[in-house]
Amino acid sequence: MATPRQKLNTKEHKNKHKVSEAQIAVHWKEEGYYRPPKKFIAQANLADPTFVKKFSEKRFPECFDNYASLLDWDKPWRKTLDASNPPFWKWFVGGKLNVCYNCVDRNLAKYKNKAALIFVPEPEGEAMTVITYQELYKRVNEVAAMLRDFAALKTGDRVTIHMPMIPELPITMLACARLGVVHSVVFGGFSGEACGLRAADSGSRVLIYADGYHRNGKWVDHKASADIAVQTAKKEGQEVDRVLVWKRYPGKYTSESPMIMGRDYFVDDVLKDYRGQTVQPVSQDAEAPLFLMYTSGTTGKPKGCQHRTGGYLAYVTGTAKYYQDIHPEDVYWCMADIGWITGHSYIVYGPLALAATSVLYEGVPQFPDAGRPWRIAERLDVNIFHTSPTAIRMLRKAGADEPKKYNYHFKHMTTVGEPIEPDVWRWYYDVVGKREAVIVDTWWQTETGGFLCSTKPALDPMKPGSAGPPVLGIYPVIWDENGEEVPAGSNKAGNICIRNPWPGIMQTIWGDPQRFVTQYYKKYNKNPRSKDWRDWPYYAADGAVLPADGYYRILGRVDDVINVAGHRLGTKEVESACLTLPEVAEAAVVPAVDEVKGRVPVVYISLKPGVLPNKAVQDKVTVTIETIIGKIARPKNIHVVPDMPKTRSGKIMRRVLAAISNRMDTGDITTLANPDIVEQIRVLVQGRDIGPLQEGPEDIKRFGQEP
Ligand code: WT7
Repeated sequence: MATPRQKLNTKEHKNKHKVSEAQIAVHWKEEGYYRPPKKFIAQANLADPTFVKKFSEKRFPECFDNYASLLDWDKPWRKTLDASNPPFWKWFVGGKLNVCYNCVDRNLAKYKNKAALIFVPEPEGEAMTVITYQELYKRVNEVAAMLRDFAALKTGDRVTIHMPMIPELPITMLACARLGVVHSVVFGGFSGEACGLRAADSGSRVLIYADGYHRNGKWVDHKASADIAVQTAKKEGQEVDRVLVWKRYPGKYTSESPMIMGRDYFVDDVLKDYRGQTVQPVSQDAEAPLFLMYTSGTTGKPKGCQHRTGGYLAYVTGTAKYYQDIHPEDVYWCMADIGWITGHSYIVYGPLALAATSVLYEGVPQFPDAGRPWRIAERLDVNIFHTSPTAIRMLRKAGADEPKKYNYHFKHMTTVGEPIEPDVWRWYYDVVGKREAVIVDTWWQTETGGFLCSTKPALDPMKPGSAGPPVLGIYPVIWDENGEEVPAGSNKAGNICIRNPWPGIMQTIWGDPQRFVTQYYKKYNKNPRSKDWRDWPYYAADGAVLPADGYYRILGRVDDVINVAGHRLGTKEVESACLTLPEVAEAAVVPAVDEVKGRVPVVYISLKPGVLPNKAVQDKVTVTIETIIGKIARPKNIHVVPDMPKTRSGKIMRRVLAAISNRMDTGDITTLANPDIVEQIRVLVQGRDIGPLQEGPEDIKRFGQEP
């Protein structure tokens, strides 16, 4: 007999086309509040409620002057926001500044001898490297001189950086920022092909690489992927004429890949000619692009989110100061990778603009064992810690009691990237934080530059599992599919949007402004000709619920993006990779719940006539996905199915496959063109006996429903 819940599901599915987000009732246990520790409040940057009032809605947009004034400007801005051409906002109009100057030069007066970056190599026997602000200044200048004079990079040019977590990565980024060269950092774990596609899209003629790095106890030969990247870019019509290669161990090349004469150069060799050189920071317009960050969306092609100079730096500096409570005295460690937006905003730009000490760790958290992060924290006396639910789950699983063994003390901890289960939150709070640290659960996206929802660490109580209220100056709303507001306390889910622009929001999609408009603003815009910013809410593509207390709980993506371990993976990208194999006729990728990584991709393929299912095809699919995208996209399972469940118009019903992979109710399938296939696939995936059905999380229930 069907439970009431299943009945509801079936009814919903019958009306599939009419189902709105808001009709999905969300039942979850309300969690109790935790108060911020008194000791934390006593020293917090944001402890004065009158500061919060400065960001009231009627003070918009000038409220954000409070963030911009944390920076040093060469020329002050005339106007906070120019919204005359929605949704292409202009922030701090007329202002001029240099990001590198703000993160490096201006800290010399007071902090030149203070550690800016501390590099922790993965091999535990290898010494840590401390880079002071003075040393950072010198190194960044030399690299800037080299990029300008040797690589012939000019203000406005794009450069693609495919590097692991070594200090040369932020040094290179800051050198670009000094020149006004737009960097596009590609996560080190992406394949050479993925890097090449991004390099081509951004129009980079210079690639910056490292020879290799340590990861999980192994040496990764990274330079080899540079050759693939150059070839891939060339196929896309982009010539790369310089590949600059950093050595992980200066003076010692550690890659099997040969250097190509006239194209590949070792940075440590070339830099000899630039020793001691300094470069004037280029005074940049507040609206000049600072960097591109490619991210996955609903189509196969990743999009280059273009971030601006002034607004972005103001926003990350303000949020890092007030939400992460960074003071210059703090030792701050964010375990994310600089190759993602989290690393850009909250390892490099925010913390350095605040003169903090930012720790850079090369490797994986649980290497060589689950005590490693806590040994690093103890050794460096880290007091602000920042990581993802996936890392927390992993560390808890591998060593629930490890933190107790080490004498470190955090005042503040961040979680970011995916919803955190209240249980996992409590372990973070009790065991990792030793009940001494305040936690902020920060919801945001690559596109948004910085935090959108979070508790104010000294002022708001924490609630496990909820990101919390919107941050200063952000005014969200939840709408259903029909544009009706889903009210607080209604226990209904809907699409979270931000009603107003803010300085951290991306400027556009590189080379595709039309896609920028359709992707983020079209859905709830009623009048495309309107020149009033109030008509242009930002559509985040996340589902959310809002209880009466105003604490947003983010349910996950409502599009066909899968959040794997806090990283975005476009299902279409993975599907296109599968379809490059001559054996594969059709491919569908769906999310499956994973107890550590949150979600993982599961691949369904059907084969061309005459090709018999065998293990070799499955292995080929895995290798192909890893080659085209990278190991991060490796599927948990590959199911070879006789046919895909399809609508009468031939559309693959990914929702049905997602339900099967997660042992959820497949709902109404009577309208399919081939309903019998569903049971066949179910048996193939789950085996013969029908186990108990799972309720399943909201994002999987909704998966594939968006047009
Ligand atoms: C997606 C954005 C934010 C930087 C790292 C990821 C999910 C992010 C949270 C959170 C629940 C979260 C959303 C969002 N997400 N933070 N605190 N609680 N979900 O950036 O790769 O652009 O991914 O991550 O689904 O849309 P990203």
